[in-house]
Amino acid sequence: MCGIVGVLGNHEAAPVLVEALKRLEYRGYDSAGIATINDGVLDRRRAVGKLVNLSDMLVHHPLAGKAGIGHTRWATHGAPTEQNAHPHKAGPVAVVHNGIIENFRELRAELAAAGIGHETDTDTETVALLAQHHMQQGMTPEAAARATIARLRGAYALLFLFDGEGDLMIAARAGSPLAIGHGEGEMYVGSDAIALAPMTDRITYLEEGDIAVVARAGVTITDADGRLVNRPVTQIAIDSARVDKGGHRHFMAKEIAEQPMVIGNALRHYLSDDGNEIVLPEAMPDFARVERLVLVACGTAYYACLTAKYWFEQLARLPVEVDIASEFRYREPPISPGTVAIFVSQSGETADTLAALRYCRDRADSILAVVNVETSSIARESDLALPIQAGTEIGVASTKAFTCQLTVLLMLALKAARARGEMSAERLSDLLSALRGLPATLNTAMEIDGAIRDVARDLSGAQSALFLGRGAMYPLALEGALKLKEISYIHAEAYASGELKHGPIALIDETMPVIVMAPCDALFEKTVSNMQEVMARGGRIVLVSDAAGVAAAGAGTFQAVTLPAVDPVLAPILYALPAQLIAYHTAIAKGTDVDQPRNLAKSVTVE
Ligand code: F6R
Repeated sequence: MCGIVGVLGNHEAAPVLVEALKRLEYRGYDSAGIATINDGVLDRRRAVGKLVNLSDMLVHHPLAGKAGIGHTRWATHGAPTEQNAHPHKAGPVAVVHNGIIENFRELRAELAAAGIGHETDTDTETVALLAQHHMQQGMTPEAAARATIARLRGAYALLFLFDGEGDLMIAARAGSPLAIGHGEGEMYVGSDAIALAPMTDRITYLEEGDIAVVARAGVTITDADGRLVNRPVTQIAIDSARVDKGGHRHFMAKEIAEQPMVIGNALRHYLSDDGNEIVLPEAMPDFARVERLVLVACGTAYYACLTAKYWFEQLARLPVEVDIASEFRYREPPISPGTVAIFVSQSGETADTLAALRYCRDRADSILAVVNVETSSIARESDLALPIQAGTEIGVASTKAFTCQLTVLLMLALKAARARGEMSAERLSDLLSALRGLPATLNTAMEIDGAIRDVARDLSGAQSALFLGRGAMYPLALEGALKLKEISYIHAEAYASGELKHGPIALIDETMPVIVMAPCDALFEKTVSNMQEVMARGGRIVLVSDAAGVAAAGAGTFQAVTLPAVDPVLAPILYALPAQLIAYHTAIAKGTDVDQPRNLAKSVTVE
């Protein structure tokens, strides 16, 4: 999604803004721009495509000035053209915006009636025009910004800069996060703390409805009711703001490689010191009394929820309903008493997931959030936030957050299984021991990298691919297909293996790679039968299994990837690794942009 930065500094602003925008690149964007104030005069530069285009433009047409705002745009209203790029400027006002102004057509019509026309296709330009209109009627910049914000409907983060006001930025948050950075005689604004990390580690997060008046000497914040408020200054851990690739070619590769470590962190966070007990916060609902779980998320986080359904239902005999947040929120499902709602989100800012959470607010007995970003809106609006301990995830395609989500959800399911008397102490102890060994198992599994490169070389020439899995491997097949689509742009679909003969088998011919995720478990023989059906029709099977599975079914398959054998309960976490690596190496073979795939945004703060 769009990224916002702002600086009131004591040095040239343009290089600082471009550097900060680079740190927001991971969010996904298709154009970028900055505006500065030099000798009291507002000027801007904007360029389509990667930030390097903006930097090139600044070499030939520099922008001086020590105050400025910047933006990376992920197009919503209007194509990614220079004209539609931010900052938008109307007379003395420049504005950058993340989110959607839902009533911009109505505002545009009002402005048109007052003889004020628009030049771009964007909703954001309307904000600048309205503020300009208010200033023309005699309002101060601050009053004009407040009067403008009061008219807006939708979810947004906004940052204003004004002609002749080199020591003023006005920031507003309604739905999309904004962080204020405190420097030494300098102040900053950013969509997140990562953008500001090189400048400061002292951050104030704006709350919903806040308006911040920022000057070099500090910030004054008013809340949604216009009352002056004190928002705390938090010291951000430098680690959480680190965004280097650590010697890897891509953030995605680094984040895949980090999984043994971060899963270890998640385990340590929720296990007792001796590792023999799952310790959850006191505010956790008593699973023995819970009648039903509702799990809601989007994308990869949704597949983590689908996997967890198998765990909660099979291990804890606890009924689970899983839904995609964008469907759930408009379906308005009845929430019966005894329901605990769990929202899973890496960013904690996904607009649909947040809206679904709000729908459950007064309906569910309790609202839990399984999140990576602990300061996020979803974490703050839940009754209890359970951090997944994955560390900052920069690659647009989620990897380590997925496996950490799975790890935390599995621990919840195990806790529920014990609390509901559905699992013996011995079985729990065995599973905890296997879980503690999982980081080491994942480290060993990294050796599949070579075999996966061979699979990827073949896959990179395909138009389309199928992923199959049964039971808890079905969501993993879905995740494998999503990852492949996202970063290699190869069309991929996933099916529950048993569903193949009910339609998709018609797609099978010698050009169709079929990736089968199947540990040698109770369902394995049934999956082998499905593989035979594919092979009989010339389909090229890539079997991802353990040594026993490959030995039992490998003959006749096109390729095999052998993973270490694990307890079937843990298999979904381990099998995420080949799903990620297949997509990663296929994207490398195709030469696509792994960390910033086209059209995608890291945190989806619009509907
Ligand atoms: C896929 C991916 C997305 C996200 C989805 C939800 O690789 O990253 O599908 O999983 O947009 O995002 P969060 O987890 O931030 O709510």
